[in-house]
Amino acid sequence: MNAIEVRGLKKSFGAKEVLHEVNLTVEQGEIFGFLGRNGAGKSTLIQILTGITQASAGTVALLGEPADRLDAIKRRIGVMPDTSNLYHDMTARAFLEYMAGLSGVRVSKNEILDLLGRVGLS
Ligand SMILES: Nc1ncnc2c1ncn2[C@@H]1O[C@H](COP(=O)(O)OP(=O)(O)OP(=O)(O)O)[C@@H](O)[C@H]1O
Ligand SMILES: [Mg+2]
Repeated sequence: MNAIEVRGLKKSFGAKEVLHEVNLTVEQGEIFGFLGRNGAGKSTLIQILTGITQASAGTVALLGEPADRLDAIKRRIGVMPDTSNLYHDMTARAFLEYMAGLSGVRVSKNEILDLLGRVGLS
């Protein structure tokens, strides 16, 4: 099974085609870098892979699951974006509580404190 499989991927914003027939395969355990000039569509591709935006055409599969079943694999993938998505006026605990609420995840104060402790953010 491949970690990432992209076939015939296209993405347009209005009349502007940003991704044209992208095909790529990343095998499990492979370390894969992909490079492109500014505006080439790298972030757009990552956003499609992570379900933030939809492709205009083509197919994407992560760990064998098609992207429209992304909820099934979200627990098994991680993404570190190049910009911070934190609200800087919130504490770490308040931020996690807020995000859990938005995602409909029921989590107790103790679970949040435990998670923060595990990554050294108590
Ligand atoms: N939501 C959007 N609406 C319209 N155009 C967009 C949108 N998002 C990206 N674009 C355009 O799509 C193209 C690809 O953008 P993208 O951010 O994917 O490039 P990138 O390769 O990540 O660039 P960089 O190296 O600057 O991070 C750019 O021309 C950008 O202006
Ligand atoms: Mg980018």
